[in-house]
Amino acid sequence: MKFAEFATFKMAYEEAGSGKPILFVHGYPLNRRMWQPQIEALSQDAHIIAPDLRGHGDSTPTAGVYTMQLLAEDCAKLLDYLNIHEKVVLCGLSMGGYISFAFARQYPERLAGLILTATRAAPDTQEGKLNRQRSIELAKEQGIDPIIEAMLPRVLSPTTLENNPALVQTVREIMQQTSLEAVLGDLQGMMERIDSRPFLNQITVPTLILHGKDDQLIPIEEAEAMQAAIPHCQLILLERAGHLPNLEATEPFNQAVREFIKNL
Ligand code: MLT
Repeated sequence: MKFAEFATFKMAYEEAGSGKPILFVHGYPLNRRMWQPQIEALSQDAHIIAPDLRGHGDSTPTAGVYTMQLLAEDCAKLLDYLNIHEKVVLCGLSMGGYISFAFARQYPERLAGLILTATRAAPDTQEGKLNRQRSIELAKEQGIDPIIEAMLPRVLSPTTLENNPALVQTVREIMQQTSLEAVLGDLQGMMERIDSRPFLNQITVPTLILHGKDDQLIPIEEAEAMQAAIPHCQLILLERAGHLPNLEATEPFNQAVREFIKNL
């Protein structure tokens, strides 16, 4: 792990391998460790960069709203810091996908391809916003543990929950490395995020959507709708995987990424 020092915070990141750069952007409330199987396996094929977003994992927190644009800017700053000026493949999971849309809007010239994992282009519904507000209040009152315990049974597939307690524990421990500031900042930022659906037909880079068949948080229909709207887009549904398909169906996930980048 290394740190990039920025004016307002220190960003931790992992870097491995060489070749085409792939920037892996984690979801909420996670950190770069969720990409460990990809860092290990895909560094044979590509130059992997996996940051901890501000306030997550080993990156220092800041107070305030973590808008998707702000987090996308942090990712671009990391690329500048690392002197990566060639086009990158951006792989974002869930909130990382929301950030990928913000990045694609702000820096289209920096993109070689997009991998959208377990994410959606639609904004929060009214009910979704109310749930976020409740989570903000709960986290302020009781800290992040109740948020994590409520999320765990929904973030993983029934197969994982039943057969892989070690993975459940790993995901819990990764989530516990998130600061309260980041949980509050992410929730507010996700709640305020704009509708990315009108932008989908302007995505010109090759795009791969990877989605777990048993995702309980984001239904498959969201992935299908994105595929229908993005011009050069392939959708792969992963068996026995929930909202974290890179951890629950690691081999098919990695294989799909390998194939995708080979053809870019
Ligand atoms: C995530 O995994 O990043 C979150 O579940 C996304 C969300 O809450 O919308």
